[in-house]
Amino acid sequence: MADTKFVKKCRCTRIVFFVILGSLVGVGAVVVAIVVPQYLHDPDDLSRAKEILSQVPLVDGHNDLPMFLETAVDGAINNINLENDLRPLLGNKSQTDIPRLREGKVGAQFWSSFFPCTSQHKDAVRRALAQIDVIYRIVRKYPDVFEFATSSEEITDVFSRGKIASLIGLESGHGIDSSLGALRMFYELRVRYVTLTHSCDTPWAASSTHDTPVGDGLTEFGQKVVLEMNRLGMLVDLSHVSHQTMRDALNVTEAPVVFSHSSAYAICPVTRNVPDDVLDRMKMNGGIVMVNFYPGFINSTATWTNWDFVTMEEVADHVDYIKDRAGEDHVGIGADFDGIGGSHPRGLEDVSSYPRLFAELLRRGWTDEQLKKLAGNNFLRVFRKVEEVRDRLQSERPPDEDHISEADLGNQTCRTTNT
Ligand SMILES: *[C@@H]1O[C@H](CO)[C@@H](O)[C@H](O)[C@H]1NC(C)=O
Ligand SMILES: *[C@@H]1O[C@H](CO)[C@@H](O)[C@H](O)[C@H]1NC(C)=O
Ligand SMILES: *[C@@H]1O[C@H](CO)[C@@H](O)[C@H](O)[C@H]1NC(C)=O
Ligand SMILES: *[C@@H]1O[C@H](CO)[C@@H](O)[C@H](O)[C@H]1NC(C)=O
Repeated sequence: MADTKFVKKCRCTRIVFFVILGSLVGVGAVVVAIVVPQYLHDPDDLSRAKEILSQVPLVDGHNDLPMFLETAVDGAINNINLENDLRPLLGNKSQTDIPRLREGKVGAQFWSSFFPCTSQHKDAVRRALAQIDVIYRIVRKYPDVFEFATSSEEITDVFSRGKIASLIGLESGHGIDSSLGALRMFYELRVRYVTLTHSCDTPWAASSTHDTPVGDGLTEFGQKVVLEMNRLGMLVDLSHVSHQTMRDALNVTEAPVVFSHSSAYAICPVTRNVPDDVLDRMKMNGGIVMVNFYPGFINSTATWTNWDFVTMEEVADHVDYIKDRAGEDHVGIGADFDGIGGSHPRGLEDVSSYPRLFAELLRRGWTDEQLKKLAGNNFLRVFRKVEEVRDRLQSERPPDEDHISEADLGNQTCRTTNT
């Protein structure tokens, strides 16, 4: 028989224990609610987000893994195994590898061929080709994971086979060295968008930095580049260009445009972002603005070195804003991972984190249909329309044989003439 005194003492201890435990749990809950960001709260939203991303390919408009690998290992990728977490090998700034792409439910990726502005008028074409070589070697080295896609239909085919559709974007018009012939050959190499500029003017298009006196928009030759891209079925990418180049390109293009990695100027007024009057024109043009996650384009107080206060919720604000202003048919995702120096918003640290953003948007009342548009259906519609325009234009006009004028080219020492 149990000693009643002992039992009593025991009960008392238990009560004290549970009171203390209860308070700890209570305090803990408050701490968790304050400290832990929203995205850890709702496993249901997260699993619903993942379910949506398994039905529709998540098409990300811009990833700089090739540039990251060029910087980290000088493009020597033979001994880099992308099936491993790359952080222990390449440092915590690494934001892309196969395990994290899978966790992030990425269905299609535009891999960027990047070459800096310092290569303009020098060896930009070589560097563009060398980056495309890195992309080819990555895609071919992991045939169970990646497969090239060059059309809207191939994206959905590759996705239906459970692989990541791989597309190529040329990040900057200075890579074609003002040559429509070079532009056409990049198309043959599977390049499906050209960003008209990077952070420097080309002789035919002004960039968001607008750093030369060539004019603040597209020249006549620049308009021809856009029209030739329309004829080829190449997406015209207006990220990085000046606001006037955006307007000029929208005036001349016969097909929908893309912003492969840009956010909303009204929220974060940096010239890299898309102003309202251009967002308004997305409805008529049929194009898409794919939201960039770089903290400095999300919150203008963030810088390259001071960014870690920017949150996923602020990225969601940009997505919401573009949906409301341009329309739910004109918004997508172009995170720019591996091109943003390892910076990232809280909660969106690398390619594994897309489902969290979708969960956040679910909480904000986005429907499954709207999220499927954001993920990939909007981009696929844009691409299909671009292909339709290509088919029409190819029956209407031959390849453009124009050359840029000497006057537009300016004083160039590293260029020979055709004759
Ligand atoms: C990288 O992150 C891990 C985990 O957070 C940490 O333990 C490690 O110290 C970090 N490495 C560097 C070089 O910052
Ligand atoms: C674009 O076209 C509209 C008319 O459709 C015109 O009002 C506007 O000035 C044009 N903008 C540019 C930059 O050419
Ligand atoms: C940006 O970050 C600052 C904190 O540095 C914050 O006060 C502000 O609300 C954020 N958002 C915008 C749009 O600036
Ligand atoms: C072209 O550039 C070179 C070297 O910068 C300079 O010496 C030359 O005067 C320039 N020519 C013209 C026509 O501007």
